[in-house]
Amino acid sequence: MITLRDVTKSYGEVTAVDRVSFEVPSGEVCVLIGPSGCGKTTTLRMINRLIEPTSGTIEIDGRDIMDSRPEELRRHIGYVIQSVGLFPHLTVAENVATVPKLLGWERRRYEPKALELLEIVGLPPAEYAEKYPRQLSGGQAQRVGVARALAADPPLLLMDEPFGAVDPLTRERLQAEFARIQRELRKTVIFVTHDVDEAIKLADRIALMRAGRLEQYDTPETLLDHPASKFVHDFMGSDRALKRLGRACVADVMRTDVESTTDGTRAIPREACTDSRFVYLTDESGVLEGWVDCRVLDAGTPPEDAGTPVDWREAAVHPETTLKDALSRMLGFGFRNVAVVDAQGRLVGEVSLAAIEATMADADTHIANLEEGEVLGALPDEEARS
Ligand SMILES: Nc1ncnc2c1ncn2[C@@H]1O[C@H](COP(=O)(O)OP(=O)(O)OP(=O)(O)O)[C@@H](O)[C@H]1O
Ligand SMILES: [Mg+2]
Repeated sequence: MITLRDVTKSYGEVTAVDRVSFEVPSGEVCVLIGPSGCGKTTTLRMINRLIEPTSGTIEIDGRDIMDSRPEELRRHIGYVIQSVGLFPHLTVAENVATVPKLLGWERRRYEPKALELLEIVGLPPAEYAEKYPRQLSGGQAQRVGVARALAADPPLLLMDEPFGAVDPLTRERLQAEFARIQRELRKTVIFVTHDVDEAIKLADRIALMRAGRLEQYDTPETLLDHPASKFVHDFMGSDRALKRLGRACVADVMRTDVESTTDGTRAIPREACTDSRFVYLTDESGVLEGWVDCRVLDAGTPPEDAGTPVDWREAAVHPETTLKDALSRMLGFGFRNVAVVDAQGRLVGEVSLAAIEATMADADTHIANLEEGEVLGALPDEEARS
């Protein structure tokens, strides 16, 4: 558990962080968010003593961080930054093993650990361990940064816009990867971003900051449905039904009873098309290779012309993809259904636009009810608060 009490950081006249207090329970992800310059990085860096607070206290599991030497403290806190900061003259595996080496681990302990972590972050060691940072893409370097931060198995991870510098598709993958790793490892994480969707997707709780002050600290649902101020309301955005889709994932609404065949289009009996609009085509191991649209079959198209070959990496989603991302994928492709595959591309189900709409309708009703109740009318007066 991390506890901040009345933490303030001043630089002369500038108060970068102003009496901030919050608590992050062990195993939870706290996302610090807010406009540029609101004090997110300063707050984060005070926790591993890269910056000393002007006043206030910070405790990790009940122990004041000022009681530990900074170097000692940092060895037990993983730190990931946007620019990654990999050592260019060290291989990927050596980069990952940096902290364990500093901690005096023996080679037979840190070497397998580094390889295991590369596997976890989706960089097969056989291919990546001996590469140098300059041979990596931005997204791959970010993964190495995350693996390095996890190497000494620290209970606490501080991440400052770790996925900020990569393209949207890679960011989506890194977020899904992070969510998966976190489900397994249950670290206490403080994660800085200025991307509301990223916060909604990853946070157990969101700390929304404004001009050095903590504006609201609560679950994403509460920030969306019960914003403490107009600022919070506006910052979270008006498309709240859509934003809420970022909290649910494909696994929650997908069908698993989909029709598939390994025999190519030729073998599809028309009867297979009675229940499902799509029959999916897979290889022997179940990897998605395409589909047949049964409506086309019904229209008299010869079966061998009816199949649409696809690359699962582009045309499918994963069970852990958020409904928001799945929806935008469907809209992008113009599909009303999309195949769901596992990490190896094996077909596991299908998600339909109707299923997503149904959850949106639920959220809409929920929000409509809220708006009728006087939630927004009850927002504290901005002037009165400051
Ligand atoms: N060393 C410093 N000296 C003076 N002012 C500083 C210093 N470091 C930060 N500040 C000021 O403190 C405020 C908070 O900075 P901080 O870097 O924490 O913001 P941030 O929320 O991380 O912003 P961004 O989203 O742009 O990264 C800013 O107004 C910044 O100008
Ligand atoms: Mg910052």
